[in-house]
Amino acid sequence: MLVLGIETSCDETGVAIYDTENGLLGHNLYSQVELHAQYGGVVPELASRDHVRKLIPLIQKLFDQCQIKTVDGIAYTAGPGLIGALLVGATVGRSLAWAWQIPAIGVHHMEGHLLAAMLEPPVPKLPFLALLVSGGHTQLVQADAIGKYSILGESLDDAAGEAFDKVAKLLEIGYPGGPAIAQLAKKGNVNKFRFTRPMIHQANLNFSFSGLKTQVLTTWKAQQNIDEQVKADIAYAFEDAVVDTLVIKCRRALQETDLKRLIIAGGVGANQKLRTALTQMTATIGATIYYPHPIFCTDNGAMIAYAGALRLMANQSESLSFNAYPRWKMDSLTIV
Ligand code: KG4
Ligand code: ZN
Repeated sequence: MLVLGIETSCDETGVAIYDTENGLLGHNLYSQVELHAQYGGVVPELASRDHVRKLIPLIQKLFDQCQIKTVDGIAYTAGPGLIGALLVGATVGRSLAWAWQIPAIGVHHMEGHLLAAMLEPPVPKLPFLALLVSGGHTQLVQADAIGKYSILGESLDDAAGEAFDKVAKLLEIGYPGGPAIAQLAKKGNVNKFRFTRPMIHQANLNFSFSGLKTQVLTTWKAQQNIDEQVKADIAYAFEDAVVDTLVIKCRRALQETDLKRLIIAGGVGANQKLRTALTQMTATIGATIYYPHPIFCTDNGAMIAYAGALRLMANQSESLSFNAYPRWKMDSLTIV
């Protein structure tokens, strides 16, 4: 079965074809980063309009690349995300499915991220623990089956990626913040600053990154001279605090649940320092870690095509009436 995946929940227009027999056939991505960079964050209305401009040409290009004329099913991101942006992908996906008389399904964006590690071998077996760290979410999820997810902990305020973006804005080093901070942090002094690891002493698996952001702001304001080195020192200490916090909570979650597999997903999962630290931690407690390829950590069409393909193969699809959900709880999904 050939499935077209469409992702338009935020500022990336992503499309892909997943073949349930041969894996990923091809994928294309158009990033709106430059469009939003001047505002230091995503402007929802500009995002929707750009998806309108880019989505259909991107699908046409993908079909040419894959040398196909049609597909057997369509999967589009139905939420959570920016409502206008979601509606572009949902409308195009549902309309193509109607025109071609094939099934379509709305996919949960975070389920897409969660399953991205399954796109390429080695494919993790269920059950597993997933750390979902993106611009909108920071969650520890227990996956017992495809569609059966329990949220063990989540951020009570800012998501980890959001904190990266806000700190980068403060340091005036560009958008998106994650890659910019990671790059600058390489030049930072290890012992110059140390920030708190939020909520690590509380007996739960929740996170909070907004206080850390304030701590960075206070430190920034206290500096007499702001030069590149100070920025790099702050970037280092901030990245170190976020990575350490995520590792501590992942270790605790693995130990409490006795799960032996950890999956990393979402944009912050592309962070090399986080990957190295989690690899070391899992090795010490006898767990195995699985990462998607870095290009499938950030938003992309491939993860949506894959998640949708699993559901379409299980005969789950929706009627001609469709919807998009800016908020949508992952633990409310149906089991495949
Ligand atoms: O998953 P994603 O592409 O979009 C959402 O669903 O939010 O994640 C985007 C987030 C942004 O906040 C970005 O700053 C962060 O992922 N990010 C990173 C890195 N690459 C992207 N954060 C830390 N280190 C990175 N290398
Ligand atoms: Zn995402």
